[in-house]
Amino acid sequence: MKFLVTGGAGFIGSNLVRHLLEAGHAVVNVDKLTYAGNEESLRDLGAHHSAGYHFVRADICDAEAMRQTFALHKPEAVLHLAAESHVDRSIEGPGEFIQTNVTGTFQLLQATLGYWRGMEDSARQQFRFVHVSTDEVFGSLGLTDAAFNERTPYNPHSPYSASKAASDHLARAWMDTYGLPVIVTNCSNNYGPYQFPEKLVPVVILKALRGESIPVYGKGENIRDWLYVHDHARALLMAAERGRPGETYCIGGNNERQNIDLVHLLCGIMDDLSPRPEGRLHSDLITFVKDRPGHDLRYAINATSAQRELGWTPLEDPRSGFRKTVRWYLDNRAWWEHILSGNYRLERIGLDNNPNARVAS
Ligand code: DAU
Repeated sequence: MKFLVTGGAGFIGSNLVRHLLEAGHAVVNVDKLTYAGNEESLRDLGAHHSAGYHFVRADICDAEAMRQTFALHKPEAVLHLAAESHVDRSIEGPGEFIQTNVTGTFQLLQATLGYWRGMEDSARQQFRFVHVSTDEVFGSLGLTDAAFNERTPYNPHSPYSASKAASDHLARAWMDTYGLPVIVTNCSNNYGPYQFPEKLVPVVILKALRGESIPVYGKGENIRDWLYVHDHARALLMAAERGRPGETYCIGGNNERQNIDLVHLLCGIMDDLSPRPEGRLHSDLITFVKDRPGHDLRYAINATSAQRELGWTPLEDPRSGFRKTVRWYLDNRAWWEHILSGNYRLERIGLDNNPNARVAS
């Protein structure tokens, strides 16, 4: 199949593009290349994929660019991942999140609809628009609540999750109103290669590697359900191939951990793979800092429906997944050094604005 992937230079997007090409599909990757989109993440695709791979630098908000991209490349399905995705950034500046996640999704839906309506009957029936979203739209779970599933009501708390919730509703409305064959997926926290160093896992690895304080928000008691990004990429392809239009699929790693436990796990892997001088422990770098405003306590996904309908289940063993991830950052210094030497600074994550910071005892 020929897929149009939006946001294919981002973390999940670049892993997905690689998965699609390896599975023998063709990809048109539409990415604006914001700070988190990185062509370096796609550099290894190699010549043998080049016939089936096209990169289009464009903003999904640009209606004419989207119209032209559809007309030129004639995709058979859309996998829509382009989004502003970092909760802390959305708290500092929500405008971009409304623009890309809400207006951008609207423009993309309109462009897709125009193209889809012009397709031949059989191609139109096969066509799918997979809208890739997050479990954060469901809000926060208590410690004893059942995990989120496809029927959990929406209750977003951050500007980021509210903008993603809005985009989910738009995507479903384009199905209900215009018949566009939309599938929505809501995933839990992803980790793995090529994750931009502003999210917890790469922050911990790179801070540890540089011997800098590792910032843990609040008491580190928040719980996330960690999904290896390759498992997520498999799920998205399965959703496009086997998912039913109008359906939602929750995709999770079945791998809940308190932040502080995950940080200790990563520090332990670092002790093993990249020991500090004089036998000091990486966990000595852990520093509890001021909490994120409106910090959701717990996310967890019940992926039974994806299992039953798509035949998907996460395959990566979490311990090997986290180890592989640390290994990847150790082996791919050039990738993250390039990011840190540009206009992005790891220092913005951490202690600068946290007068309440205290080092773990
Ligand atoms: O659940 C899916 C969501 O997971 C995605 O929709 C988001 O795009 C993605 O960013 C992620 O959201 P989180 O806010 O959970 O991810 P983040 O890596 O920013 O934080 C994970 C947890 O770790 C969260 O409880 C906040 C905490 N944290 C984060 C950072 C960056 C820290 O304690 N210290 C940190 O330095």
